[in-house]
Amino acid sequence: MTQPSEVPAVDPGMTVSTAAYSAPAPDRFDDDRTPLTPETYAELRAIAARYPEARSGLLPMLHLVQSVEGRVTPEGIEACAEVLGISAAEVSGVATFYTMYKRKPVGDYLVGVCTNTLCAVMGGDLIFERLKDHLDVGNDETSEDGKITLEHIECNAACDYAPVMMVNWEFMDNQTPDSAVQVVDDLRAGKDVQSTRGPRLCTWKQAERVLAGFPDDLADEGPAAGPASLVGLAIARDRGWTAPSADAAGTTAATGTKTDAVEQADTSRAESETKAEEGK
Ligand code: FES
Repeated sequence: MTQPSEVPAVDPGMTVSTAAYSAPAPDRFDDDRTPLTPETYAELRAIAARYPEARSGLLPMLHLVQSVEGRVTPEGIEACAEVLGISAAEVSGVATFYTMYKRKPVGDYLVGVCTNTLCAVMGGDLIFERLKDHLDVGNDETSEDGKITLEHIECNAACDYAPVMMVNWEFMDNQTPDSAVQVVDDLRAGKDVQSTRGPRLCTWKQAERVLAGFPDDLADEGPAAGPASLVGLAIARDRGWTAPSADAAGTTAATGTKTDAVEQADTSRAESETKAEEGK
């Protein structure tokens, strides 16, 4: 089990000299990360070149760093800053804001159990507790064999399949404690595991490369959406409902005239405002 870094106890009577303090050395060599190569720098520059404003490429660039180094390292932050011509502090501010960027090494598979309200009451809390016991880890920790990093996550907009577990950001729907244990055991045993609504699961580093914008050509493997997510569409088709046309959505660009729908909305708003005024 990965242990949090130890913080030495502070003696209340001790005089602390700031001059004597030095920041702990980053654990640069405690995992199997691959140092950034000239090829990686070239790919970072290629990502930045996709955008009119190069710094817009920072998010996929950080994913690329993770695909190579297994996390966002100080070297990765400096590389992004150098390519984009911004400060390391600016890159660090982004990398530490989003939970998808990791500062500690991640196992081969990042398993996230949704413990947000709906999933929690449908069994997400039980799944998370069972996996913690089974893997002998706490939240955001990696199993002893380095295969599985477990974390609890917030709603992944998959509530129609609660309780949901994500593996490297692929959906594993309608889980139970038993099925979740089966998934992690199969992954640890090197078996192929198919996500519920996507392709077979790849490693976290491979998934990070896809998120950086380098496809693995597996995007069309597996269904894109499940029946529960399509119920609304089926009802709409059954009743002949259609989306409003572009014109009906607002003032027509060509003539500047208002559609009936907009006129109606304007009238309702004016009436509400009048009533509100009269009520004062
Ligand atoms: S609450 Fe779990 S996916 Fe929405």
